[in-house]
Amino acid sequence: MALPGLMSFSALTLFLLLPHHASSLSSSGRNIAIPPVYGICASSVIVHGYKCQEHEVTTNDGYILSLQRIPEGRGSGRSNTRKPPVIIQHGVLVDGMTWLLNPPEQDLPLILADSGFDVWISNTRGTRYSRRHISLDPSSPAFWNWSWDELVSYDLPAVFDYVFSQTGHKINYVGHSLGTLIALASFSEGKLINQLKSAALLSPIAYLSHMHTALGVIAAKSFVGEITTLFGLAEFNPKGLRVEAFLKSLCDHPGIDCYDLLEAITGKNCCLNSSTVDLFLMNEPQSTSTKNMVHLAQTVRHGVLAKYNYVRPDYNIMHYGEIFPPIYNLSNIPRDLPLFISYGGRDALSDVRDVEKLLDILKFHDEDKRSVQFIEEYAHADYIMGFNAKDWVYNNVVSFFNRQLNR
Ligand SMILES: *[C@@H]1O[C@H](CO)[C@@H](O)[C@H](O)[C@H]1NC(C)=O
Ligand SMILES: *[C@@H]1O[C@H](CO)[C@@H](O)[C@H](O)[C@H]1NC(C)=O
Ligand SMILES: *[C@@H]1O[C@H](CO)[C@@H](O)[C@H](O)[C@H]1NC(C)=O
Repeated sequence: MALPGLMSFSALTLFLLLPHHASSLSSSGRNIAIPPVYGICASSVIVHGYKCQEHEVTTNDGYILSLQRIPEGRGSGRSNTRKPPVIIQHGVLVDGMTWLLNPPEQDLPLILADSGFDVWISNTRGTRYSRRHISLDPSSPAFWNWSWDELVSYDLPAVFDYVFSQTGHKINYVGHSLGTLIALASFSEGKLINQLKSAALLSPIAYLSHMHTALGVIAAKSFVGEITTLFGLAEFNPKGLRVEAFLKSLCDHPGIDCYDLLEAITGKNCCLNSSTVDLFLMNEPQSTSTKNMVHLAQTVRHGVLAKYNYVRPDYNIMHYGEIFPPIYNLSNIPRDLPLFISYGGRDALSDVRDVEKLLDILKFHDEDKRSVQFIEEYAHADYIMGFNAKDWVYNNVVSFFNRQLNR
């Protein structure tokens, strides 16, 4: 069966790397200590007149993740009360900076800070400011030996534990794309629930069976095995030569239009400002692991949310004690967990039919704990960079969080 997932995620990166080859990202995979002045706080938050602190959290499997905290807004806000914390989690192949590319009055983290929240921006392992480990070097394959299962098992719990210990408050969560999938998978296992107040899921992905992209035809010919053979257990660096060559070869297939790939992959975004897209191209994409890309492709192919499939039954038995990988059963998400879901009619990654499948699974959710928004005009990237996302989405997220304050 076809594997459009891997192909389309990869192809997105091709679009991104072609026009802007120069980049501040080290492609050598060396472990570089980044002075705070170059961090996200300095480059993208403090410049707008907000306080911002760089934090660091170590996962139980040794990855050192960077977090940015914006403790308060520019106005007075809830100045005398303890502010409720919010964790903001990006998707795959980008990092936390992706939330900060519009003018400040349009950026979700700053809007939340100005609305009285204590904002924490998370950066997944492998991305620019989270490329460190207590013993492994990013140049070694072992550093990249993980998929989104480990984001569920290690990254999210480490970030939640840290923010909870720093603030003593239950946490509101905003995820986009892969940031929604790892949250839903966690909730289905009962993880994070005790520290969570509510969750907002933008462009949710849990099922990917209907993802429609221009690359569907070529993807049908490609298989996970090929990719693993090509890259092994390694970094998937969209700006690296091997990934570039691989993606170029895909674009040589007849009928594949790599010129307009952002649109072909994410859908026809209605509301991106070209100066924001330029910034995006300068700052992203970011590395992930090849194993993570393969796991996402498996999610597309199998139509169920399951742990990483080692394909060989003996390997699956070694890791899971079963021939097939265990599933994340979304029916187990607690029905009283406040959920805000927003999805777009033009989103090619988070297809309307797949979101409807998710909503169907959540249909027994307590009605007053479930808030669903559909935006006909929106595609995948509008949710992070749309110039009107404040009016259309973020204001609703803020009022949703405010309604849950007494949970
Ligand atoms: C990758 O991790 C698995 C455990 O999840 C382990 O069995 C395997 O040896 C590791 N491979 C490398 C190269 O670190
Ligand atoms: C697009 O960005 C530029 C530069 O920040 C700004 O001047 C312009 O008003 C923006 N357009 C919209 C529709 O937000
Ligand atoms: C998922 O959980 C629900 C309720 O807990 C159960 O009825 C259903 O059989 C489970 N699905 C699978 C595939 O295990």
